[in-house]
Amino acid sequence: MNNKANIPSWSQLGRHAMLPEASHDEVARFDLLAQMNVFLSQQLAPGVRLSYEKRTLPAFVAEHGREPADRHEIRRAMQKDPAFQFWSALRRNAMEQRQQAGRSLVFRQLGRLVAAAERINRDKPTLRLDPSVTPPRYATAVDIHCMPGGYHTEVVEGDVSAAANYDAGIFVTTAGMLGSYSDGGGQAIVQWLAANRPGFRPRRILDIGCTVGHNVVPLALAFPDAEVVAVDVSAPMLRYAHARAQSLGAHNLSFVQANGEALDYPDEHFDLITTAMFWHETSSSALPRILAEIQRLLAPGGITLHLEQPQYPGMDLYEQFIRDWDTYNNNEPFWTVMHDLDLRQVLANAGFAPERYFETTMAALVDRSIFPQAGEGQQDYGRTAAWTAFGTSKPSREEQHAAH
Ligand SMILES: C[S@@+](CC[C@H](N)C(=O)[O-])C[C@H]1O[C@@H](n2cnc3c(N)ncnc32)[C@H](O)[C@@H]1O
Repeated sequence: MNNKANIPSWSQLGRHAMLPEASHDEVARFDLLAQMNVFLSQQLAPGVRLSYEKRTLPAFVAEHGREPADRHEIRRAMQKDPAFQFWSALRRNAMEQRQQAGRSLVFRQLGRLVAAAERINRDKPTLRLDPSVTPPRYATAVDIHCMPGGYHTEVVEGDVSAAANYDAGIFVTTAGMLGSYSDGGGQAIVQWLAANRPGFRPRRILDIGCTVGHNVVPLALAFPDAEVVAVDVSAPMLRYAHARAQSLGAHNLSFVQANGEALDYPDEHFDLITTAMFWHETSSSALPRILAEIQRLLAPGGITLHLEQPQYPGMDLYEQFIRDWDTYNNNEPFWTVMHDLDLRQVLANAGFAPERYFETTMAALVDRSIFPQAGEGQQDYGRTAAWTAFGTSKPSREEQHAAH
C-alpha cells in the first residue's frame, strides 16, 4: 500500500476526556484498516471502473442494444463483475473489522468510560435524557453502517459503548480526512458562515441528529454567546457527546434526547438550525416531518444549513452506482432514496421560499496537526472530504414588512 506514510495514525486523534485508550496493537489495527480504506478507494476502485468500461458495459450494450438507463441497471450488471465483487467484499470486510476493532477496544474499558461520563455529566442541566423517547423504526430496523446494535442499544446502565466505538472508528473509515477531532464538517460550516454571512450572530442554534457532537461543538465554540442545543434520539450518544463537549470547553451546548420530528420548543425559537450527514439515515415520512419542524422553529432572518453526501441528479450514472454501494452493502436503506431527492423542492414542500434556497460544496478543512505536509485545500494523499451543503433562510421581519 504505497500511501502508507501519508495517512495519519489513529494515535494522532485529538484527545478529550471520553476517548478510549488504545494499546500499540489496537492503534496498529486501526491504522491498517485506515490504510486499507485508502487503498480500496485510491488503488482498487479505479480498477473497478475500468472493469465496468472494458468488460461489463460492452457486454450490457451487446445484450440490450443500448447503454444502462440508470444506476440500478449498472448495479445489476456489476454484481456479476469479479473486480466489483472483490472490491465490494473487501470494503464490507474493512467496515466489519472496523466495528469489531472499535468494540473490542471499548468493551475492555467500558467500566472506566461509563464512570468518566457519569462523573462529568452528574447534575449538569446541559444533559437532558428522556427515557420516554423511543428511537424511530428507521433508526433501529437495521444496524446502520454495520454498527452492531446501531446508535441506541445499551448493554450496561449508563452505557456509552456505541458512542465510544463511533468516535474511535470514524477516523478509520475516513482515514483522518475529517480532522483530528473528526469535526471537519462543523469547522467547514463555521468557516462558510464567516465568509458568506458575515455579521450573522445566532442567539440560539439547534443541531438535529448530533450523534457524539462532532460537528456541533465547532459551532458552540465559534458562537460562545449563543445557546446551542443538540438533539438525538439515542441516549448512549448523548451521554458521551455531553461529556466530550464539556471536556472540549463547549459549555454553552446542551444535549437533549428528543425526536426531531416533534420538538418541544416554541415557534421561531432558533436562528440557526443545522444537520450533518443526517438526512440519509431518516426515512421518506420522517424527512418532511423534520423539515416542517425546522420551518416552524426557524426565526425570521434565521438560516438552516445541512451537510450531506452529494446528490445524484446530474451525476454520472457510474458514480451514482458506486456511491449507492452503501445502500446495498452497508445497511443504509434510505441512502439511495434520499440522494435522488430534489432538495429545493423538498424544502419548498416544507414551506420555505424556493428562491431563498442555496446549495454549495463544502470541503473539510485540512487539519495541519495531522496533515502537516498537505497542499492548500488537500490532504496529502489526494482526497478531500467534500459535501453538498444546502439550505435556506427565512426573511427577516424587516423584509417581511417591506414585502407587504
Ligand atoms: C449519521 S448520524 C449523524 C452524524 C452527526 N450529525 C455528526 O455530525 O457527526 C445520525 C444520527 O441521527 C440520530 N437520529 C436518527 N433519527 C433521528 C430523529 N428523528 N431525531 C433525532 N435524532 C435522530 C441517530 O441516533 C444518529 O445519532
